Amino acid sequence: MLSVVARPLGLGASCCRGSRRAIATVISGNKASKLVRERLKEEVEKMKVQFCGFRPSLVVLQVCVFQVGDRDDSNLYISTKLKAAAEVLHSIMSVNENQTVHGLIVQLPLDTVNHINSELVTNAVSPEKDVDGLSCINAGKLSRGDLNDCFIPCTPNGCLELIRQTGVSVAGKHAVVIGRSKIVGAPMHDLLLWNHATVTTCHSKTPDLPEQVGRADILVVGAGRAEMVRGGWVKEGAVVIDCGINYVPDETRASGKRVVGDVHYASANQRAGFITPVPGGVGPMTVAMLMENTVQSAQRFLLRSQSHG
Ligand code: GUN
Repeated sequence: MLSVVARPLGLGASCCRGSRRAIATVISGNKASKLVRERLKEEVEKMKVQFCGFRPSLVVLQVCVFQVGDRDDSNLYISTKLKAAAEVLHSIMSVNENQTVHGLIVQLPLDTVNHINSELVTNAVSPEKDVDGLSCINAGKLSRGDLNDCFIPCTPNGCLELIRQTGVSVAGKHAVVIGRSKIVGAPMHDLLLWNHATVTTCHSKTPDLPEQVGRADILVVGAGRAEMVRGGWVKEGAVVIDCGINYVPDETRASGKRVVGDVHYASANQRAGFITPVPGGVGPMTVAMLMENTVQSAQRFLLRSQSHG
């Protein structure tokens, strides 16, 4: 496998220069995702030749419902809300039945003034097309370790791929995950566990976060808080994977803002062995893994249709 880690300025990750430790090796999600996309392109080409122009297909459903009228009338409100939910579910059902579509994701959070139960929506997606891996069926299989019989959510899957790129094996390591969301933290916990790490999952009620972080050989952060993890907490030589995307004010930029992760990069890269940058780390891998799941779904579809035909 090709490596996508890069040593900045020729400094090693784990060696020392005098008393000063070298900075961490950067794990490039841009490079890793390019390799995945190139591999997928070849696989899709093969499918196309073997199955008469067959192409994997993905539908991304963006829910955007606006309140109709401005009457403060609870009956109108309730009927608009029910109509919005019914329309979303109807769209999902029609994609579920469409044999030319192999993957379906509903963009979260649901962008609607009328609250729609997101569990209802994610579970309406057929498990065979749930390339986000968010339905109870896929999440349940992942939690039980049926990794080859489910769709793994794209961000955790991308994080695992980035960890693999470092050459550090997960088995037997102590992994710490910060965050327990259905998209990132919870499936990341399961994925690391079934790759044989000992896993601690931290969240907003964890009282001793710096101590927990300090025990991590592998740290995955999906907390949604800008630069929350400080470099001083990080264990020397750890693999640090940052899933955060936060905008902070920056007057030196024309836009007046810049994007940072959930890890304070400038201090964490003084202690970590490997670290993902933001941007250019986990983000591009999430997209690549969505493509990977879609291709996998199309391959399963072809296998099913061959065995039925
Ligand atoms: N919004 C942010 N990340 C994701 C994701 O991975 N899947 C979906 N469906 N929505 C998202």
